[in-house]
Amino acid sequence: SAAPTAAPETGTGVFSKTRAAISARTLRTDRWWVPPLVTAVGLAAFVIYATIRSYVRTAYWVPEYHYLTPFYSPCVSSDCVEGSSHFGAWFGHIPAILPLGFLVLPFLLGFRLTCYYYRKAYYRAVWFSPPACAVAEPHAKYTGETKLPLIIQNAHRYFFYVAVLVSLINTYDAITAFHGKTGGFGFGLGNIVLVGNVVLLWAYTLSCHSCRHIMGGKLKHFSAHPVRYWFWTQISKLNTRHMALAWTTLGTLALTDFYVMLVASDTISDLRFIN
Ligand code: FES
Repeated sequence: SAAPTAAPETGTGVFSKTRAAISARTLRTDRWWVPPLVTAVGLAAFVIYATIRSYVRTAYWVPEYHYLTPFYSPCVSSDCVEGSSHFGAWFGHIPAILPLGFLVLPFLLGFRLTCYYYRKAYYRAVWFSPPACAVAEPHAKYTGETKLPLIIQNAHRYFFYVAVLVSLINTYDAITAFHGKTGGFGFGLGNIVLVGNVVLLWAYTLSCHSCRHIMGGKLKHFSAHPVRYWFWTQISKLNTRHMALAWTTLGTLALTDFYVMLVASDTISDLRFIN
């Protein structure tokens, strides 16, 4: 195992002369690299899947049952297939360089990129700053989140506001999806998938640290603000599950899109309970 020896005084980062003179990058002997590796693989899998699906412009809408994948919601251009523009076509042709969900996808990406949990995840797994507790980062300098680009992390609260709007839109999509083949009310497995996804999206969005602060932050006396205190207490409970919800919703988003894709492309038929 690596024995501590004097580090060169001319080094940078943790090897600079103001730091403890340990030359090994880490003295940990456990498999500390497993969690960041699993995180990196998980994030990469989602990013690859979501990017491909966002650009293909096929199999995102099931006209019989009004299922719309969240990756294309809201669809607001004349390129969107008939019926899928729940809020109208505000734009004409969208060049292929942009996904049809261009209106909100950047905000959703921003919401997750600036999320307190995802920051922990990718600072470790992607940026190695540091890769794990007591494992030295490879970077020479550390300026925290005080300079560009990382100072943008402070805008998380504003991405949260947009994410609430998008959750409302997804809720609307899930409700209009109770549509039968012959019109009127319908109910199939796709509805369970869409509603399950929306419920979990709300849980993730509301468990956000910014949301918790908006509810109960900056108060001097909880006793003087019983309503805000109650909301803060509830959000705090949900907030303890934020990491689990961050991962679960990546999974349900991909799964929901995948299910809509399979039904929309006639690969499988939706299991129908009513109409
Ligand atoms: Fe994760 Fe706000 S902290 S979404």
